[in-house]
Amino acid sequence: MRLNQILQPPGSKGVAAFSLLTSMLLAAPQCSSQPVPEAAARQRVLLDADWRFQLESEAGLADAVSIVNWRWKTDKQQGGEVANAVREADTTGSDWHESKSGDDNMNGAPSYKWFRAALPAVSGPNRTIHFETVDHDCTIYLNGREIARHSGWNDPFDVSLDQAWDSGGSNVLALLVHNSPSLHGGITAAVTLGSRLPIERTENFFAADFNDRGWRAVHLPHDFVVEGTFTNTAQAAHGYLPMPAAWYRKTFTLPASAATNSVWVEFDGVNRDSVVYLNGRKLGEHKSGYTPARYDISQAASFGGQNVLAVRLDSRRFEGWYYEGGGIYRHVWLNVANRLHVAPNGIFVSADLPEPGLDGNAAPATIHVKTKLANDGTIPARCEVVSHLVDASGQTAGEFTNLVTVPAGDDEELVQQGIVEHPQLWSLEAPTLYRLQTFIVVNGVTVDTSNTRFGIRTIRFDADKGFFLNGKPVKLQGMCVHQDFGGVGIAIPDSLDYWRVKQLKAMGCNAWRMSHNPPSPALLDACDELGMLVMDENRHLGDTYLDHSVSGTKYTNPADLAEMVQRDRNHPSIIMWSMCNEEWLQGSVEGARLLAGMIKTVRQYDTTRPISCAMNGGWFQPGFTTVEDVIGINYSPNQYDRFHGEHPKLAMFGSETASTKMTRGQYTSERQRAFVSSYSVTNDCWRSVGERPFMAGSFAWTGIDYRGEATWPAILNQSGALDLCGFPKDSYYYYQSWWKTNPVIHIMPHWNWPGKEGQEIQVVVLSNCERVELFLNGTSLGSKDMPRNGHLLWTLNYLPGTVTAKGYNAGLLAISDTVETTGAPAALRLKTDRTKLVSDGEDLAPVEVDVLDAEGRIVPTADNPVTFRVDGAGFVAGVGNGNPTDHDPEKASSRHAFNGKCMVLVGTTEKPGDMILTATSPGLKSATMSLGAMPDEISTK
Ligand code: GAL
Repeated sequence: MRLNQILQPPGSKGVAAFSLLTSMLLAAPQCSSQPVPEAAARQRVLLDADWRFQLESEAGLADAVSIVNWRWKTDKQQGGEVANAVREADTTGSDWHESKSGDDNMNGAPSYKWFRAALPAVSGPNRTIHFETVDHDCTIYLNGREIARHSGWNDPFDVSLDQAWDSGGSNVLALLVHNSPSLHGGITAAVTLGSRLPIERTENFFAADFNDRGWRAVHLPHDFVVEGTFTNTAQAAHGYLPMPAAWYRKTFTLPASAATNSVWVEFDGVNRDSVVYLNGRKLGEHKSGYTPARYDISQAASFGGQNVLAVRLDSRRFEGWYYEGGGIYRHVWLNVANRLHVAPNGIFVSADLPEPGLDGNAAPATIHVKTKLANDGTIPARCEVVSHLVDASGQTAGEFTNLVTVPAGDDEELVQQGIVEHPQLWSLEAPTLYRLQTFIVVNGVTVDTSNTRFGIRTIRFDADKGFFLNGKPVKLQGMCVHQDFGGVGIAIPDSLDYWRVKQLKAMGCNAWRMSHNPPSPALLDACDELGMLVMDENRHLGDTYLDHSVSGTKYTNPADLAEMVQRDRNHPSIIMWSMCNEEWLQGSVEGARLLAGMIKTVRQYDTTRPISCAMNGGWFQPGFTTVEDVIGINYSPNQYDRFHGEHPKLAMFGSETASTKMTRGQYTSERQRAFVSSYSVTNDCWRSVGERPFMAGSFAWTGIDYRGEATWPAILNQSGALDLCGFPKDSYYYYQSWWKTNPVIHIMPHWNWPGKEGQEIQVVVLSNCERVELFLNGTSLGSKDMPRNGHLLWTLNYLPGTVTAKGYNAGLLAISDTVETTGAPAALRLKTDRTKLVSDGEDLAPVEVDVLDAEGRIVPTADNPVTFRVDGAGFVAGVGNGNPTDHDPEKASSRHAFNGKCMVLVGTTEKPGDMILTATSPGLKSATMSLGAMPDEISTK
């Protein structure tokens, strides 16, 4: 549901008094004349439509000169030799060496090195030095004064020099570079000195009167990086797609009457380094690409007139080492509220109840409601806070009212408490949700409303027995997942997030690790609604804007972490907070100190969930493990027993496991095409967790393939159980076998091996049945007991025909699977589970395209080219096929099939209507599918 539910105020007979001005606020130019009723409900309006977009041309440095020559030496005190930073330091000794920008001085070895260069004169202001890459973290000094720190190893960055520049004298730049184990190290790319004008002085894209009619019209969510061309000189970590800076502009009007309200815009996610302007006036900046940004526009807005929102973002500065995309890729909201209103993220509902016994009977639950009110007015406001708890069937489950006074220009938090006598618990099987309706009432008039979903459940981690939900043991059958998908990149519409959760749930996955950043709100909603446990993850250790925290990092800016916890804490699906992934300070006292600071921040906002980290080392040192609640171990299953033995009171789980790469439908590895054989499934990677009761579970790397972390010509990381389009790979069936309770059986490989007649082929059967019998062309090849958490293997001499596996439980046939040799490609088939879409300009349906033989069987090796057309109220929103080396554009209307399948995304416009999707391929029978788009809030699921 996109617009906040319109709430019925206490005592009112209907919703008339709350009629929203949604369309009037949104759609310029009709909206200017309509007045906002004096006591209006909160208006929260989606601002996703009608943006204008333009890439920014590379803004250069004026009067640029290259800085090429450096003197360097090793710091034997690991960064302690700070005298090397001063201007006068002597660099003539034999421990100083020469190097040039672009040299690798560290060869991937962990060490600290000083680099020094005398800078030529450059006129100011805005003197700037630009580094293409410093590998890895560095502290930068000018004339002995620390002027910046940078963390990262693969991103360009600027440092402003004016603060320590000596106009009359010489200027010496010193860098202390700290390299951690990696491939290279040092000042590994070009360095340029010059003067960089602030963006407002080089472009006027932010100006209210700038004519953006020539810019492209886009509808959010939007990722412009995925529209680019794969280039082998672009960053491997980010999928070999160029990541430039870009601008967005949006024109909208506000009614004159809104001038008496509090008005703010809210960006759910912009990747990244965004600067936002309204009517030419800078509202603020936000670095993180994963946390929301809010801007009060009451001062800069034109009420009763037209407003222009301009956003500049720069995707060149990375936060991660995986595809991060670029753009306004989550929703944008316009909020118009009474000056006295519920503060953003101001509500926290939590439930206390005794842990139910194994019978599942729930005792009465005490509901705690914290409500933070903001008063933007100039006089104190006295009001009633009315809280209604509403159960899943719409019945009131509790009601409480309290009085509070909120000082002018300030906020105030109120705590309420009530009992739900017969709580319906949120569980994986029945994810029951409640709603809290909040009404702020002044002198009998409701001035603000808010609607919060929550769930009632108990969670507990036990050091010996693992995780418990509502008193029942639940093994975390988890997957790590990045935000990325074929055809759209990071611009994943809400309905597609829902679909992705459903796909993993069908595999038997019950837990999702948000890797490695706060997700979109829609993804958490989907986990709440579908019953998927969540490990919600903060981007990194320490300060908000540092990537991997270097030694000496202070914890002074908890903004992103605080935002994540406040935004997400009402989701019942979230069972723990993860503070970071694989940080180098994880095994140190200093790391523990930083983590302790972060834990303190989390507990300010939520004390109901345990806190953890994903650690890939340092478990036995005095680091994170001394302060966190639950221990997350990345990989290293051989450490599980030792850690449990040494720390028998600490609960543990595998925060990252497996990383089993395979290419869908491929059974030989091919270096040239980066294909990885699917026989890697025989690693049996769930076994080490599955057989240890003290392991609460694990999160395998990864649920779905993602772009980046690949070596050209591969552009994808192939560790997913599903490929980038959501098609299951063989590992999907391995997990499904051991995670589902109903019988599962799957045979690999396919059975199309012309030319291999008589040759040996290994056949793997993945199943959870007790015993499996294999048949080749109807002849039994014998039966075998299935090893728990494992697989079965037969070696067959290839003959075309059929291979069948029959799974038996207690001697009875439970399930079977067959692979058969197919004929040549003859026809296309289209399949989707969603043909009824929402005409909101963002919804889309992923459609599977199969290449069939004349008998309707998928040809598992087919790579036919397929062209798509949508007639009617929709369009081709993207294509994909999961092939790791396909460099064709994904924003296109054609795609080659890959191993029998490809995918087309059918998107909607804002016009309702029917549509026909047609898929054609030379020589094949084409296929069509009817879909429809409707304005209503019909199911997007
Ligand atoms: C892990 C890391 C992941 C990903 C993975 C690749 O160590 O946490 O983000 O890089 O390796 O295998």
